[in-house]
Amino acid sequence: MAASCGRFVPLVLLFFCLSAHAVDHSNFKTCDKSTFCKRQRELKPGQSPYRALLDTLELSNSRLTLQLINNNNKVRLLLELYRLQGNMTRVKINELKPLKPRFEVPDVLITDPLTEPLSVVTQDENGLVLSLGGDEQRLIVSAQPFRLDIVEGRQVLVSLNSRGLLAFEHLRARKDTKSESNLEQDSGQENVEQRADEKDGPIIEEEDKPGMWEEMFKSHSDSKPNGPTSISLDFSLPQVEHLYGIPEHADTLKLKNTDGSDPYRLYNLDVFQYELHNPMALYGSVPVLISHCTERTMGIFWLNAAETWVDISSNTAGKDSSEDAQTDVRWISESGIIDVFIMLGPKPTDVFTQYASLTGTQSFPPLSALAYHQCRWNYNDQEDVKAVDQGFDEHDIPYDFIWLDIEHTDGKRYFTWDSSKFPQPKDMLQGLMDKRRKLVAIVDPHIKVDSGYKIHNEIRSKNFYVKNKDGGDYEGWCWPGNSGYPDFTNPEMRAWWSSMFAYDQYEGSMENQYIWNDMNEPSVFNGPEVTMHKDALHGVWEHRDVHNLYGLYVQKATADGLIQRSGGVERPFVLTRAFFAGSQRYGAVWTGDNAAEWGHLKISIPMCLSLGLVGISFCGADVGGFFKHPSAELLVRWYQAGAYQPFFRAHAHLDTPRREPWLFGPEITALIREAVRQRYALLPNWYQLFYNAHRTGQPVMRPLWVEYPEDVTTFSIEDEYLLGKDLLVHPVTDEGSMGVTAYLPGKGEVWYDVHTFQKHDGSQSLFIPVTMSSIPVFQRGGSIICRKERIRRSSSCMENDPYTLYVALSLQGFADGELYIDDFHTFNFEKEKQFIHRHLSFSANTLSSRNLAPDSHFSTGSWIEKIVIIGGSRPSSVTLRNADGIESAVEFDFDSVTTVLTLRKPGVNAGADWTVLLR
Ligand code: NOJ
Repeated sequence: MAASCGRFVPLVLLFFCLSAHAVDHSNFKTCDKSTFCKRQRELKPGQSPYRALLDTLELSNSRLTLQLINNNNKVRLLLELYRLQGNMTRVKINELKPLKPRFEVPDVLITDPLTEPLSVVTQDENGLVLSLGGDEQRLIVSAQPFRLDIVEGRQVLVSLNSRGLLAFEHLRARKDTKSESNLEQDSGQENVEQRADEKDGPIIEEEDKPGMWEEMFKSHSDSKPNGPTSISLDFSLPQVEHLYGIPEHADTLKLKNTDGSDPYRLYNLDVFQYELHNPMALYGSVPVLISHCTERTMGIFWLNAAETWVDISSNTAGKDSSEDAQTDVRWISESGIIDVFIMLGPKPTDVFTQYASLTGTQSFPPLSALAYHQCRWNYNDQEDVKAVDQGFDEHDIPYDFIWLDIEHTDGKRYFTWDSSKFPQPKDMLQGLMDKRRKLVAIVDPHIKVDSGYKIHNEIRSKNFYVKNKDGGDYEGWCWPGNSGYPDFTNPEMRAWWSSMFAYDQYEGSMENQYIWNDMNEPSVFNGPEVTMHKDALHGVWEHRDVHNLYGLYVQKATADGLIQRSGGVERPFVLTRAFFAGSQRYGAVWTGDNAAEWGHLKISIPMCLSLGLVGISFCGADVGGFFKHPSAELLVRWYQAGAYQPFFRAHAHLDTPRREPWLFGPEITALIREAVRQRYALLPNWYQLFYNAHRTGQPVMRPLWVEYPEDVTTFSIEDEYLLGKDLLVHPVTDEGSMGVTAYLPGKGEVWYDVHTFQKHDGSQSLFIPVTMSSIPVFQRGGSIICRKERIRRSSSCMENDPYTLYVALSLQGFADGELYIDDFHTFNFEKEKQFIHRHLSFSANTLSSRNLAPDSHFSTGSWIEKIVIIGGSRPSSVTLRNADGIESAVEFDFDSVTTVLTLRKPGVNAGADWTVLLR
């Protein structure tokens, strides 16, 4: 949320403004205030009431089912177990006979996961052992108390319900009222049917606890038509001390113990002036945990879109015994079912592949979206846009996108323009297009309730709004005042929304206009916790069930709209604030309303790293900080850091002074220019990394341990990271910094400073002195990085420019890398195989370019203008051999101090086969 405190604000917003500079904790629930979390957390370990009824076992080829009974209330659950292809196990638990269906998350898995056969190895009255296929993996089902263990050889990988915290609040009829609850028709009596078996023994009735049938938060009541429905399950991970993931939190990369504090919360919320180092929920949620130890990396994907809390408790290993280390995790969700995917690794890259096989990979953005974005709330009018655009040219700073925030609309009616400030949007867009630049306009999902507004009228007439608990259109307060919220969970609604981006519907829009979805948690200023009431209705489902999915659907419908408006040709670019598992398929995310403070700059690194680990690579933070005014030093450091983060956008609150890069004096302008230019030079590498993320699910921005999984020193590092596997970035994030201490990993490896070519050994911490212009970045010896060094106005202007290859040799004299080229903006790379993908490799003094995709076809005008080989010796001659075997001499020079050999103008086409021989 971002209430403007300097202007007129509606009363409901006033309380945000009064609490300047810190989150108002009273607006948000702690576990104690969230009655299901409190109830669940009160359960003590070691008292599991669940027993597996082994005589109910059914095994088809790949599906095993078994009933579980709660010894107290006698309610039966149905357990389903699947072995999935790619070394995963899926565990589902639902009520055997719920009074009505419980919500199962749709649209997140990309397909029905492929299964593998399961077989029973042994069975007796205590339980059974299942074979999970290769690698000696077994799944042990213990009957009483019910428990699951996945073992490999003699090693337990993970245990479920080993602490006995499986808890499943079954649907039951209301006792308090004869309400219009739709439960009622099914249930004159409680769900007796599922508890009728006499041999199960007497039913021990549970006591009602506060908040089970109705819950108040501040002045908001939650009518809980279905009563208590929460679920919980514990997981124990022997040998594990390090857990990561479950974004979004403004917290460390390595997750902390939650003993004695609140659990991490996953509930998409618009948190005004969020606090650092806090497990409070933020705008997005990805319910995926990654565990890591030197032997193994695994993941737990808890597929549930309701409010969720995650408790973590780690025991560190004693000095001499690695066996004592263990991490216990407990997931608690308010509704839905237990549907959990255990991704068994064993390597980090396997977990990324496994998760991508379930939820898909990062969408492949148009190249320009990886360039620099200039945003502020707000660029006031067309003249302002033009002046800022010209400012970039005058100061010789490249940029690709200028952004328009909510003030560009006619009274916050999205899909419209303020006719006095933006009378000719097409002229403005055309002006940008002439310079090969683009624009992003904001389209939020709250719709002004106004009978003169076409979008509202259509949504209302098509009955597409979310409903309140009484069946009327749900209304809440947001930027436009009273607003309706389209039901994005409805596929028909989404199809209609997508159609609104057609050029003839969205008047004034053009093909160089892209979209920003904000406030899609959804933000409701006068709702409980600034969001929608949980008893609001999306068709038959309560908002409670779907809450964390809403933002994903908004971005999906918008991205689909941009694809459709181009007839399926162009790749979309949509930024979202709220997200869920699978959101990576639809565009970029940013970390919301941060502040111009050093701590916020620092936390941007672990926040984006956490997202990358769970599939969402296209992440960035508002450069400069959204709230407050950055010092010139902070602004420069933020540009330098942002230039090396995936989504690179400056943004600022409406009430802050202007801060375009040239407003802080020529020295600062020069520093910012240099940082942005470094970004543009590296765009070929960013593009290749995103292509790779799109194809394989491997993150773009990686914690060091992902590439050095056995090096424990890397496990807690969060002030530096890798881009792909070859560039190590350690941004300066401290005020007045004279240097950074960088850890360079890899025994027997070397790293080269990309600016000075100085060589450093791996596996050491190094003090790197810095000045205001320094951005410490190192290239791994053994890698080849492609750049474009003729920096122009925008990335589009550089499309056909030549490449420079940086070949950084390992101590053994090897290096390799990749170059990926296509038209930079359409789906033709996928549909028509129109791309170039080259493998570049150096060994035995020979550098060659080989085709990695022989069945692809694309021609580029780009050629190789320079090759820089670092870490070798002076050759006596350099020869280029082209695809026809014709040889020619290449001009070169060698700097014996830096050991840099520069080959000038080899002049080969970037898509061709060629070899360079050093003799
Ligand atoms: C909140 C967003 O987080 C912020 O980036 C934006 O400027 C304001 N809403 C106004 O749209």
